[in-house]
Amino acid sequence: MRILVTGAAGFIGAHLTAKLIAEDHDVVAVDNFNEYYSPELKIRRVSELLTPLGVQVQNVALDQHSLTSALFNINQFDCVYHLAAQAGVRIPIEDYTKYVTNNLVAFSNVITCAAQANVKNFLYASSSSVYGNSPQKLFSEKDVGLEPISFYGATKLANEVLAKSLSAVTGMKTRGLRFFTVYGPWGRPDMAYFRIFGNILGGYEFNLMGDGNVVRDFTYIDDVISTSVKLGSELGSHATGFSDVVNVGAGNPVSLDQMIAEIEKNLKARLSIQLQSRNRNDVIRTSADSNYLSKLIGENRITSLGAGIKLVSDWAKSPEVSVNLAKWSNTVA
Ligand SMILES: NC(=O)c1ccc[n+]([C@@H]2O[C@H](COP(=O)([O-])OP(=O)(O)OC[C@H]3O[C@@H](n4cnc5c(N)ncnc54)[C@H](O)[C@@H]3O)[C@@H](O)[C@H]2O)c1
Repeated sequence: MRILVTGAAGFIGAHLTAKLIAEDHDVVAVDNFNEYYSPELKIRRVSELLTPLGVQVQNVALDQHSLTSALFNINQFDCVYHLAAQAGVRIPIEDYTKYVTNNLVAFSNVITCAAQANVKNFLYASSSSVYGNSPQKLFSEKDVGLEPISFYGATKLANEVLAKSLSAVTGMKTRGLRFFTVYGPWGRPDMAYFRIFGNILGGYEFNLMGDGNVVRDFTYIDDVISTSVKLGSELGSHATGFSDVVNVGAGNPVSLDQMIAEIEKNLKARLSIQLQSRNRNDVIRTSADSNYLSKLIGENRITSLGAGIKLVSDWAKSPEVSVNLAKWSNTVA
């Protein structure tokens, strides 16, 4: 299959591209290598994960309609994974146009060009942020009246509404992947676990926003990737016009304190903590209901937090990575 992956120099996109290539797909990988966090890290990710597989990531700004349209004119794709976005909930309000440009304008460009090019299957990154501070014990795709608390989460919910309407009008099948706090090697330096590794190894204090009681359904990258690939194949079995959203989460929520303890155990060192006030865009807890996912693909592969953190730890301790972790973290607030 000929597949487009957007955001391919990003954390999830690079791992997904590598997996699709390993499964013998023909992948076109694009990213604009923007400066939200270290472009050098994005380049390193590509050179470590994709260059050895013979993949080059094309520099395309998807918020430019003419460039997006040209991509679809040159290639006939069977499937699209649209992951490019302004990730993270914490950017300052002065920069919210980044959410509009990358999560709404680029999203609209990619999804409408895909539909016009008769792409059959369109998957895109949504987020557990769409659930906001939901009172439900488990967050289910069946929950109605969702109220994201962050502007970021609101743009992801908007993507879901736009995708469903476009499926109804054009027949292109669409599926939103509601990712729950993904962690793993070559991750994103704005995320707590990445900074904790960097700060312990570099001997720096960690700014803990709020307290360590926030709960996240941390989901290991390999599980996210194998699930996303299976959900892509499964989408192919549906009739024209189908549209849904699927939780992609481990279903095993733990507190940030537990995550910190696991990292400290692996590095055999203590994290020095500086308490900061809670960011109002951060939800208190996330917890995925995985029933729909299991119904679709028959299983929800889960790497335990212990096993996942051990793998990140092995990566973080390698000499060529450990010296750079804190530097990469410092490129983003
Ligand atoms: N990592 C997580 O825990 C998580 C959780 C929920 C949702 N998501 C979503 O999953 C997707 C991938 O996340 P990630 O963690 O890999 O983030 P990431 O920031 O590492 O990757 C996103 C990539 O998209 C690129 N990009 C952004 N705007 C672009 C544009 N206009 N044109 C071309 N490229 C552009 C960036 O340069 C970046 O490399 C995002 O949509 C994110 O919102 C991630």
